[in-house]
Amino acid sequence: MKHVRKAVIPAAGLGTRVLPATKAMPKEMLPIVDKPAIQYIVEEAAASGIEDILIITNRGKGLLEDHFDRAPELEARLTGSPEKEAVLEQIVHISRLANIFYVRQKETKGLGHAIWRAKRFVGNEPFAVLLGDDIMKAEVPVTRQLIDAAETHSASAVGVQYVPTEAISKYSSVKVTPLEGRVFRVSDMNEKPTPEQMLSNYAILGRYVLTPDIFDILENLTPGYGGEIQLTDGLKQLCRQAPMVAVDFEGRRYDTGNLRGFLEATIDFGLDHPQTGDWLAQFIRSKARQL
Ligand code: G1P
Repeated sequence: MKHVRKAVIPAAGLGTRVLPATKAMPKEMLPIVDKPAIQYIVEEAAASGIEDILIITNRGKGLLEDHFDRAPELEARLTGSPEKEAVLEQIVHISRLANIFYVRQKETKGLGHAIWRAKRFVGNEPFAVLLGDDIMKAEVPVTRQLIDAAETHSASAVGVQYVPTEAISKYSSVKVTPLEGRVFRVSDMNEKPTPEQMLSNYAILGRYVLTPDIFDILENLTPGYGGEIQLTDGLKQLCRQAPMVAVDFEGRRYDTGNLRGFLEATIDFGLDHPQTGDWLAQFIRSKARQL
């Protein structure tokens, strides 16, 4: 398998689960402590060895492009002030995380359709997919864990974790057989199954490493769950024609596409942050005594 150095980040969702916050603001720009959600995703990709990133956007997502661009006026204002030096470094660093490209989805036809828009960018190489709602806290970046498994087994890879049966209908469920350690062989999957339809308790949680064979499959897919072109339906075909593994990745995943996941991420990342960690722990302890 060729070296994985490209990633695709779909960011064309409407953010309807976190309204009214996302009425005018792209959901990817909502801050978790001091960084917008999308920055965590781009940082994970960069820390996993990804060099080129395609972000799939739609109307109203211009702020994303501004965030990863240089900001000359702001940089000029921060330059020369010793106490602002660290902030200046951070601001410039954001624009150097990776080579970032953008393409618009134009119509909201589902995740599979969004990924299909990456065909030209990807060319003939394997590539990673990182869903913007799924933010990870992990020692080894989750995308790196997937790339390692994909390269070791010369296979596509999906990132999974065990979820309770009552939660499986939020995800795609994967049929797996053990292969080695935390890695399984994938033979089937289905999108948003009921507990009766689920293939196992292993759910895909927003990370993939795919071969470009997925594009021909996506091109010919008919709409599936919710009337949308589903990536899961494409992967179901891909795992039948070529090897695919599931990696039970190490790390904590936050679904920042809903309010609870967003608050959990805010608290956990706030506890980890050098400027807020001790204070927040103290605040939570005193709050807990009052509850
Ligand atoms: C998407 C995918 C689903 C996956 C989930 C992970 O669903 O379609 O297969 O399990 O992300 O977060 P969505 O959250 O967009 O409904």
